Amino acid sequence: MNLLITGGAGFIGSNFIRFVLRQRPECRITNLDKLTYAGNLLNLKDVEGDPRYSFRKGDIGDRTLVRSLFKGERFKAVVHFAAESHVDRSILDAAPFLETNVMGTRVLLEVVRQYPVEKFVQISTDEVYGSLGASGTFSEVSPVNPSSPYAASKAAADMLCQAYYRTYGVPVLIARSSNNYGPYQFPEKLIPLMIQNALTDKELPVYGEGNHVRDWLYVEDTCRAIDAILQQGKVGEIYNAGGKCERKNIDIVEIICILLEQKIGKRGLRAKIRFIEDPRGAAHDFRYALDNRKIEQTLGWRPQAEFNSSLERTIEWYLENRAWLNSVMTQEYLEYYENVYKSI
Ligand code: NAD
Ligand code: DAU
Repeated sequence: MNLLITGGAGFIGSNFIRFVLRQRPECRITNLDKLTYAGNLLNLKDVEGDPRYSFRKGDIGDRTLVRSLFKGERFKAVVHFAAESHVDRSILDAAPFLETNVMGTRVLLEVVRQYPVEKFVQISTDEVYGSLGASGTFSEVSPVNPSSPYAASKAAADMLCQAYYRTYGVPVLIARSSNNYGPYQFPEKLIPLMIQNALTDKELPVYGEGNHVRDWLYVEDTCRAIDAILQQGKVGEIYNAGGKCERKNIDIVEIICILLEQKIGKRGLRAKIRFIEDPRGAAHDFRYALDNRKIEQTLGWRPQAEFNSSLERTIEWYLENRAWLNSVMTQEYLEYYENVYKSI
């Protein structure tokens, strides 16, 4: 299996590359990544010498480059992770989200029309369905109803994928997972942001009253889901993959404080929690929860990780990789932080 992976230097992509190299000795991987602020070659340091892996720096929207990659390699499949992925950044400026998530996806689909593959896995998100109230779940046939520019750009990309499947027969499959956590996640996202802030004596900013609910999925489980979709999924189908692990944001922040206090012997972390005016406003989806029945029944996938021990493992990873954490604290990140968290 000769795979093109886009966005493989990011959080989930780098975990997926490591997973595939470990699980599938016959696989060869080309990783195409632009190395935006979220892309980091340190995420793949341990595999860079593997002869089955190669890296190409570039933009998925650069048609000449993408075409030249397909000309040079006979890719059997594409797993398309590359995206602008953070909701808060999309509220500050939607442009790069449309550029990469929509137009970049279109370029990949066009090139795949010309150089066919057996499968094109579009990595999507539960955010395309919009918000749930206190009860219920989203299934694959729930209507898309995105709230933020990020979610709208992912929904648009999914619809483009479906259109290329129906119109041109491009063999698209769509994977929609819930909130991921684990090693190598960029610290703009809730869990690593709280860990980083706690370690550097900063306040712990919780949006609104912290009652919003996310459904947490350990990244290793996500990798297994994507692999199952890639190996056994049916072309033209959408597969949800949720963590079956709903938690309120405030509960997540509190448990991080408790685990960190135990691990590093620091006291009073919970006193650092600040409830701030919600920077997402009405675009802040209240709750996500996915119905997993389709992927369970057709591909035999279900989440396996236990939340508390996987969160603990994640915290340990960040403690053991302080150099990684420091390396992503760039001027760009500090300016971004100032912008979103100006109220504290
Ligand atoms: P990330 O932000 O950590 O990584 C994104 C990667 O894409 C980076 O390496 C970046 O350099 C690369 N990239 C961005 N623009 C590019 C371009 N124009 N050309 C080439 N590369 C480009 O994201 P992530 O959290 O790993 O998410 C990966 C995918 O999974 C995204 O499509 C996201 O929408 C989806 N997703 C994420 C989650 C989550 O909880 N993180 C959940 C569901 C779905
Ligand atoms: O649901 C899947 C999505 O999960 C993915 O598609 C996105 O790429 C990924 O970023 C993630 O989106 P969220 O917006 O849910 O994740 P985030 O970690 O940014 O926020 C999780 C919750 O925590 C959300 O309700 C907002 C809240 N939050 C977040 C941050 C960064 C805070 O209260 N404080 C914070 O500082």
